[in-house]
Amino acid sequence: MGILVYSGVLKDGTPVEVERATPEDREKLIHFYEALSAECIYNRFMSIIRYFDPYVDSLFRGNAIVLMAKVNDKVVGVAEVVYDDRGMGESGIAVLDEYQGKGIGSLLGRLIIEEAKKNGIKKFYAYILPTNMKALQMALKHGARIVKRYSGMLYLEFDLEGLNKGERKTREN
Ligand SMILES: CC(C)(COP(=O)(O)OP(=O)(O)OC[C@H]1O[C@@H](n2cnc3c(N)ncnc32)[C@H](O)[C@@H]1OP(=O)(O)O)[C@@H](O)C(=O)NCCC(=O)NCCS
Repeated sequence: MGILVYSGVLKDGTPVEVERATPEDREKLIHFYEALSAECIYNRFMSIIRYFDPYVDSLFRGNAIVLMAKVNDKVVGVAEVVYDDRGMGESGIAVLDEYQGKGIGSLLGRLIIEEAKKNGIKKFYAYILPTNMKALQMALKHGARIVKRYSGMLYLEFDLEGLNKGERKTREN
């Protein structure tokens, strides 16, 4: 079982919990990714993947923060940041198709930023397809900036130190 980082309700009143995954959650994570639609997988990974064991195992081999949103004990959304010793990370997020549009993505986005900051991550990036308006809107709302187009994808950066400075400035004003 993961480590509880949030407990609350969604916009429609559904109770939701967010946990930081541990290696014991391996099977649940594999099951989650394999339940995503092909379109969702493509938007998340920019390729079609059918078996997620290698990906999930790679998360637990390196430095990674993996957050799982759960409704009725079912994993319905996952956000992760894989990072290196310099405090640089790569982030990704996905929500089960039938649970999208309820605020789970936004909640995970906010919490992954908080957890990343707590773990000393200074900056992380994400790739988003230019047609993926929902993910793009969400990333921009959470303070990302589009840095460049790369191989048909948008490369966005979340400068967590910059976000801290921005927050301080707002509080001072
Ligand atoms: C992107 C994704 C994680 C969003 O999850 P979600 O639970 O549906 O998101 P939410 O309900 O919290 O909505 C998040 C934001 O998306 C934006 N949004 C929602 N629907 C939208 C739409 N139809 N058009 C444009 N923006 C939209 C809004 O900014 C919304 O924020 P708000 O609720 O404050 O207005 C989900 O669509 C998903 O899993 N997509 C496939 C994987 C993917 O694209 N990952 C990103 C690349 S790593």
